[in-house]
Amino acid sequence: MTTSPTSGIRDAGDLRHQLVEQLLAHNHIRSAAVERAFRTVSRHLFAPEVPLAAAYADDIVATRHLGDGTITSSLSAPWLQAGMLEAARIQPGHRVLEIGSGGYNAALIAELAGPPGHVTTLDIDPAVTGRAIRFLPEAGYDNVSVVTADAEHLPPGVVPAGGFDAIVVTVDTWDLPWIDALVDGGRLVAPLRLHG
Ligand SMILES: C[S@@+](CC[C@H](N)C(=O)[O-])C[C@H]1O[C@@H](n2cnc3c(N)ncnc32)[C@H](O)[C@@H]1O
Repeated sequence: MTTSPTSGIRDAGDLRHQLVEQLLAHNHIRSAAVERAFRTVSRHLFAPEVPLAAAYADDIVATRHLGDGTITSSLSAPWLQAGMLEAARIQPGHRVLEIGSGGYNAALIAELAGPPGHVTTLDIDPAVTGRAIRFLPEAGYDNVSVVTADAEHLPPGVVPAGGFDAIVVTVDTWDLPWIDALVDGGRLVAPLRLHG
């Protein structure tokens, strides 16, 4: 374990691997590919406003608030991201759409899809996409397309020929208007609300 000689604070790598051990122990991570992605991507680079320990807690990091304190954007909790990524079964070469951008989850998806794949992440809030545009290349992911739009109507040109292999929805939804944007046999993972 790496500690600062003066403060004893653990470094980002130690905290990242400790988080992965927690996610494995609770069975949120179940595949080697998802484990590798979580061990590789530095979450703190997508949440520079919080201390390292908060960036590597198994909890959301709120990144955007309304004046009354209501959270309008966050990095989702790692346990939820791990579960959704396991369900999405993303393979190298897949073209993947993430709806709702924090940057970090798009980087995890980029690790799973690999260089032959492609990730598009889309958010309605330009401040959120602005963060993703800034943080993704800083973290080493410069091949993710970041789109500002309302996901209810995907802009022309966003859907690749034939459709996405997987769509990961990280916005609460009561409808699935994206089914037609999938290839045959593609997977859509969403936190669906039924009857409220
Ligand atoms: C939980 S956050 C995204 C989390 C991120 N994908 C992650 O896993 O860390 C949800 C995001 O959905 C965005 N959002 C809400 N409604 C939307 C819509 N209609 N179209 C696109 N994005 C939307 C919000 O701006 C917010 O940034």
